[in-house]
Amino acid sequence: MKKQVHPQKTIAIASRIVMPNECNTLNNLMGGNLLSWLDINSAISAHRFCNRIVVTAAVNNVAFDHPIRHGDIVTIESKVSRSFNSSMEVFSDVYVEDHRTGKKLKCNEAIYTFVAVDQIGSPIDVPTLQPETALEKSRYGSALRRRQLSLLLAKKIQPKEASELYDFICNVN
Ligand SMILES: CC(C)(COP(=O)(O)OP(=O)(O)OC[C@H]1O[C@@H](n2cnc3c(N)ncnc32)[C@H](O)[C@@H]1OP(=O)(O)O)[C@@H](O)C(=O)NCCC(=O)NCCS
Repeated sequence: MKKQVHPQKTIAIASRIVMPNECNTLNNLMGGNLLSWLDINSAISAHRFCNRIVVTAAVNNVAFDHPIRHGDIVTIESKVSRSFNSSMEVFSDVYVEDHRTGKKLKCNEAIYTFVAVDQIGSPIDVPTLQPETALEKSRYGSALRRRQLSLLLAKKIQPKEASELYDFICNVN
């Protein structure tokens, strides 16, 4: 039987202050910098889950809902939301602390997929995730649909294999 891991064990939290050389000409953080920080923090979370080398297989979704400004403090909280065979989905919530008002706001969400690999880069099996809270269960439940969408876009499965996606689209009003 596969080892079971609780999401709490996979939490990775990192904060940093936005520096001038990380911003565009409007003094907002460049999206690519946030993507890089998300990649690193999510990888730490995936590593805490499986204790193996992990590689980024896909960036499934990142929404840049609010601009992040020079001087703001960015905090990324990542947690594994589901595992399959060798792959793991990691959810990250991004919070920003306004450097003038101190107000903290959730500004982005991101979903990355990592694969655990051995020393020569071949995929290897990972433990199973045991979600506990309502949010963990909800993200766990919808992860299969996101996996199928990602594999479909990467042309790694055929549309007829994306059963979850088909059910989802048919049930959207
Ligand atoms: C990710 C990688 C290890 C997958 O290897 P592969 O030989 O394609 O292996 P498979 O097709 O068996 O896929 C392995 C797992 O990855 C998952 N996967 C592969 N591509 C995926 C994608 N686009 N989206 C979601 N999952 C994906 C598969 O579903 C499978 O998951 P499972 O084992 O949980 O069922 C390989 O493509 C790789 O090394 N890519 C480069 C990684 C890297 O360097 N990242 C940094 C980029 S700069």
